[in-house]
Amino acid sequence: MSSISIPAKMKAILVPQHGGADVLQYTESQPQPKLSDGQVLVKNNFAGVNFIDTYFRTGLYPPPDGFPIILGQEAAGTVAKVAGSNPLGFKEGDRVVWIFRGAYAEYTAVPEDRVVKIPAELSDEHAVGGFLMGMTALSLVKEAYPVKKGDTVLVHAAAGGMGLLLCQILRDLDVTVIGTAGGPEKCALAKQNGATHVIDYKSSSGPSWVEQVLKLTDGKGVDCTFDGVGKDTWEGSLEVAKRKSKVVYFGNASGAVPPFNIAKLSAKNVSIMRSTLMNYIVTREELEDYATSVLDLIKVGKLNIRIHKTYPLKDAVEAHNDLEGRRTTGKLLLKI
Ligand SMILES: NC(=O)c1ccc[n+]([C@@H]2O[C@H](COP(=O)([O-])OP(=O)(O)OC[C@H]3O[C@@H](n4cnc5c(N)ncnc54)[C@H](OP(=O)(O)O)[C@@H]3O)[C@@H](O)[C@H]2O)c1
Repeated sequence: MSSISIPAKMKAILVPQHGGADVLQYTESQPQPKLSDGQVLVKNNFAGVNFIDTYFRTGLYPPPDGFPIILGQEAAGTVAKVAGSNPLGFKEGDRVVWIFRGAYAEYTAVPEDRVVKIPAELSDEHAVGGFLMGMTALSLVKEAYPVKKGDTVLVHAAAGGMGLLLCQILRDLDVTVIGTAGGPEKCALAKQNGATHVIDYKSSSGPSWVEQVLKLTDGKGVDCTFDGVGKDTWEGSLEVAKRKSKVVYFGNASGAVPPFNIAKLSAKNVSIMRSTLMNYIVTREELEDYATSVLDLIKVGKLNIRIHKTYPLKDAVEAHNDLEGRRTTGKLLLKI
């Protein structure tokens, strides 16, 4: 018998159809999610906003459960109810962070193997602020391209949520980091967070960012590029690839990388990959491994989580507009 009272209706942001940020609808009368065996009901405190939320909203990625969609892949909060066998031993009142679907809501039913306890030293904001993105950044440098000491690595959108974490992690791996960012303030922030060199790729004067990367590397190019910008940078990322190097595409901030002829890669024997966190955290062991690593890094102060802004849940439209309008640096949260 649950000691926590759970209302029949809850606050949520719904996406009734694909479209711009204005399709996001705030409601206070969404029915509670049904809890199945093996799930925990989490009362969310803060939801993380990620660029992928915009892809589900626009239809770039198809919604897995149809309409209306409740966006959001991660949140921090409190266990309100536990269902079924509960082999991981969650209890009502546990502070947790989770990665699944349906975070823009007061309550979410989450498979318990996607839920992790928050260490006592960490706030909910910092736990969710670095969770999905921190695990992604670690998966990129450990598995998508195992970074080696002495490498030169290019990070696009280096002052964004992902970019700032990648710069910090790469700095600690003793690599030369070249960060691109739009505008002088963003460039300065990327540098403060570990970029060795920064390039303002939005600047209309002077050499192009491709020319600048080649100059910085004596014409040789970089060992790896982490490219989450996509459409506007994918081709340049191949141009600055060193012979026998790798380009890791991991997102579509400017649009998707179009289909292209792989013969292009033979010019320098370049490898490419399209990486997604979800395929590195399929098993409970994999999730625990990445989650523990990232929460530990935040706890000991090796990963600084910059919260750009915390928006009230009902202002999710503004959060999406800011993110897509390139007006943000760091993590966006929704206060539920
Ligand atoms: N594969 C995965 O598992 C995974 C997981 C998490 C995130 N991601 C990807 O990582 C990338 C960054 O995500 P984030 O949430 O941290 O976002 P973000 O980097 O904070 O924001 C996106 C940034 O991309 C840059 N950008 C360049 N062209 C743009 C355009 N046309 N429209 C909007 N932004 C543009 C902007 O920075 P400048 O102004 O500096 O150019 C903008 O601030 C996204 O592609 C996301 O999908 C992938």
